[in-house]
Amino acid sequence: MTFDVRRAIARKRDGERLDAAEWTAIVAGHQHGLVDDAQLAALLMACVWRGLDATETAALTRAMVGSGETLAAPAPNCVDKHSSGGVADTASLIVVPLVAACGIPVAKLSGHALGHTGGTLDKLEAIPGVRTDLSPERFAAQVREVGCAIAAQSERLAPADKRIYALRDRTSTVECLGLIAASIVSKKIAAGAPSFVFDVKVGRGSFVAKLEDARELAEALVSLSASFGRKAVALVTDMNEPLGPAIGTGLEALEARDFLRGARRSDRRLRALCERLAGAMLSVGGLADDSHALAERALASGAAYEKFEQMLAAQGAAHKALEKLVPHKIVTPVYAARAGYLAAVDAVALGLAARALVEKSGSNAGIVVEKRIGERVDAGETLATIYGDPGALPRVAVAFAIEDASPPERPLVYCETGSAGTRSAGGRAEARSSVEIK
Ligand code: URA
Ligand code: CA
Repeated sequence: MTFDVRRAIARKRDGERLDAAEWTAIVAGHQHGLVDDAQLAALLMACVWRGLDATETAALTRAMVGSGETLAAPAPNCVDKHSSGGVADTASLIVVPLVAACGIPVAKLSGHALGHTGGTLDKLEAIPGVRTDLSPERFAAQVREVGCAIAAQSERLAPADKRIYALRDRTSTVECLGLIAASIVSKKIAAGAPSFVFDVKVGRGSFVAKLEDARELAEALVSLSASFGRKAVALVTDMNEPLGPAIGTGLEALEARDFLRGARRSDRRLRALCERLAGAMLSVGGLADDSHALAERALASGAAYEKFEQMLAAQGAAHKALEKLVPHKIVTPVYAARAGYLAAVDAVALGLAARALVEKSGSNAGIVVEKRIGERVDAGETLATIYGDPGALPRVAVAFAIEDASPPERPLVYCETGSAGTRSAGGRAEARSSVEIK
């Protein structure tokens, strides 16, 4: 092979574009030990600085899909959902069983924690016995039998993404729209679902700070999916504060359990986003009518909770594992130092603190936020509760800013963009783009 990896790194560093053959050589070379981690990390940092254009992103995505097998759709109407990464984003654990309980199968490949954001796989693995290393055959069979499955990439499904994702986590090279898009879409294509819903997070707690970049990522995800013949919808949603109250692996699994059982359905932002995502998933899956009522019924009847239990049991959950989940016994409240309005919450700091708490004190440690941005607080009121190592208190306390005036309201969903994919009734490529701003 004449491919010169050092020259490719230097060209990317200097602002040139790499072609499809080069991306394929890099991904395959890393897979077979011809490109080492140091070289790939240098290239990833060049990507963060220089960016990837649409052609490079598509070439990288194809190379990552090609690193493993591509599953046939486990069911013709099945859907997949993916978030670009946020703090306390428990939505997948809730909407996957909820949508399956409404009759649309869900086949989802997830990732582990990345930077300050939590990984859906870590949350599932916090439930005793649960495995996410399903073989492609088991994964597809579970989707057909139970209606849903959440699994990890393996050596067979998008293995290049698994390795590159872990390297990005270790080298602070997550923040590149092209790398994020290629990572997400390669997993979705490998898992086989014909349609996807993407939740693109924007704001301080996400990997995308600016609304215009989030829109660009949303559009890239939709058009990249369409180039593989997949139907997709992307929502741009707020991540300026943790999405749900619980932050941490086991605490988020617990929150999903309680939400599906009805107890926590009162958290306004988490509930609103889950409803919106479930609606979009039911709609791309072909159940457009009355998706809201369907989802409400699945929650109220307990069907969504039962589906969650069935999925976990199929993935090895110990008997009553979900019921037995409890938060860490050591509890430290974080009190407001003064009265006023909660003006800002540093979601990155809380995400990192929760990840450290879990590492130190176990999977049932973490943080539960008790106040939302905009709420009035009295001096001495509880802003959050720390579970596990009390030494986390100083770094958690500084994450909350209280001011005299209440901050302006932020929307939860900024915009939605979608594509009917490449297979429309007339056999013609169709791209419906950019709907409402809310
Ligand atoms: N989720 C992914 O799967 N990959 C990314 O790069 C970011 C979020
Ligand atoms: Ca997440």
